[in-house]
Amino acid sequence: MENMLDSPHLPFVHRRTIGKSMSRQMTPQSRLEVRWEATPWGGRTKAVLDGRDGGAFLEFYKPNVMALHIPVPGRHLRIHALVIPAEPGTTRLMICQSRDFARSRLLNPVFSWMNRRIADEDRAVVESIGSDEVPTAAEQASVATDRATLQFRKYYFESLRGSVSHPRSP
Ligand SMILES: [Fe+2]
Repeated sequence: MENMLDSPHLPFVHRRTIGKSMSRQMTPQSRLEVRWEATPWGGRTKAVLDGRDGGAFLEFYKPNVMALHIPVPGRHLRIHALVIPAEPGTTRLMICQSRDFARSRLLNPVFSWMNRRIADEDRAVVESIGSDEVPTAAEQASVATDRATLQFRKYYFESLRGSVSHPRSP
């Protein structure tokens, strides 16, 4: 879930897909500001590169859904990621896209292929963490651009952790 709320990894991990334009705009002097606004359902976060607002933003829906709003002039395009705990050590990621253009079913495989490619780019990063639970703030150094992920971490430790027992738990 933290990975899904983390905008700063886009120009690096997704430099060939959804992070391409951000990656191209970046310079060694670039600065990224991550904004977070609490909402009744969770929060809204936006990454502003060098003071430019590209229009994209992420919404967090408690407890485990992210919606990426991708700016397409005059159009609707969102990628929703549902982060579902499966068995211990395994998380199921379900991606649902909504759009009001290119609606032919024949195009679904193309969009599905692209969404899978983006998710696979995340897979290596997430699996390298080596744990299926977020570390405490003290266990990991954080920076200002971790703002959105730290909001989830706070929510996790305050409300989620231990709130649901796993079906296979004793
Ligand atoms: Fe990602």
